[in-house]
Amino acid sequence: MNIPFSPPYIDDDVIKEVTDSLKSGWITTGPKVAALEKTIADFVHCPKAIGVNSWTSGAILALRWFGIGKGDEVIVPAYTYCATAMSVMDCGATPIMVDICDDLTIDIQQVERAITAKTKAILPVDLAGMPCNYHKLNEIITKPHIKALFQPKNKIQEDLGRILLISDSAHSIGAKTEGRNVAELVDIAVLSLHAVKNITTAEGGIICLNLPQPFDNEVLQRWFKIMSLNGQTKDAFTKSQAGAWRYDIVDKGMKINMPDVNAAIALAQMRKYEWLLAERQRVHNRYCAELKKYDWAIIPHQDNTANQSSYHLYPLRIKGIGEDERNKIISFMAERNIATNVHYIPMPMLTLFMKCGYDITLYPKSLAAFQHEITLPLYPQLSNLEVDYVLENLVLAYQNVVKA
Ligand SMILES: Cc1ncc(COP(=O)(O)O)c(C=O)c1O
Repeated sequence: MNIPFSPPYIDDDVIKEVTDSLKSGWITTGPKVAALEKTIADFVHCPKAIGVNSWTSGAILALRWFGIGKGDEVIVPAYTYCATAMSVMDCGATPIMVDICDDLTIDIQQVERAITAKTKAILPVDLAGMPCNYHKLNEIITKPHIKALFQPKNKIQEDLGRILLISDSAHSIGAKTEGRNVAELVDIAVLSLHAVKNITTAEGGIICLNLPQPFDNEVLQRWFKIMSLNGQTKDAFTKSQAGAWRYDIVDKGMKINMPDVNAAIALAQMRKYEWLLAERQRVHNRYCAELKKYDWAIIPHQDNTANQSSYHLYPLRIKGIGEDERNKIISFMAERNIATNVHYIPMPMLTLFMKCGYDITLYPKSLAAFQHEITLPLYPQLSNLEVDYVLENLVLAYQNVVKA
């Protein structure tokens, strides 16, 4: 058997939808992107959504919208992909890293302790598809003394009157807390549609708006669309219609729009996402059912009454092993044609962040998670037979490497 780590789900419907775009005479931003934005907004129950070319660019634009820049602080977990912090740095602001809890999501108590008068946003990560504790995060940002600490620098910040809650929902399309989608529990959720994600446009992202009064999410959607296309008032599709050539550039935007030919992939996948999610859950549950027999296995994100994961990743941790043993287990699996992965190298262990002065010893839980973690393959196409092959070899690997 050969088990890749995370191949995209491409069936005949996806190929048909992409071919439709290719044959339509229009392949960049147009009707398919608009349809995808509406489909995803409806699915995650947010008022409006904007398609862009990556999570990273979407997060940068959202932080820029809020006016985040030099001198500002944004709280992020240390245990995530680098883009979480780099989006903040791209705006000229400082990522304030805090450690994680046992479920790998941001430690809420540490978030509260990290808030200062410079804090403009909290950017938690729904790691592996598990929603963060948004109930608690919302409680924190609306506490009177925390609101009193908030120092607005512009009209938008004045109107919100508190810290912005913007989620890194790169992994969590379809994840819920108490039946409510993540995008309903934050001001802005940014989803990734990168090639390995549950739903993909090859490269892409979606900004989901859920701003409270007095904001008008429809007006904001128009602003985000304009700003994702160089600040241009008319998109290329509208401009290409006969006689409709005139446009204006109203602000210093970014060039991060999503092309229709990419949106087509996700549009076809979204039509069967309920089923794709159920298949992910099948794989996840099969791993859990077997691994709970072993006392060395720390089973990831079990659903509970409050939270329902999107089963994006299966971040297994193995008790008591060090980095060297973890790496040997990965090699053992690779020799048997099973691709696994590690999510994540904590950001303070990466050169860029070390050069900026971040110190991994301040994030002991992130470090421990990294040393013990092996991400198993998880995607709808994995048959039960293949899942069992992964499990058999994982147990063999443990016996060979750790018990040897
Ligand atoms: C947690 C997390 N945040 C952000 C990103 C960045 O997403 P993108 O590649 O769409 O910019 C990723 C991508 O892997 C991710 O895993």
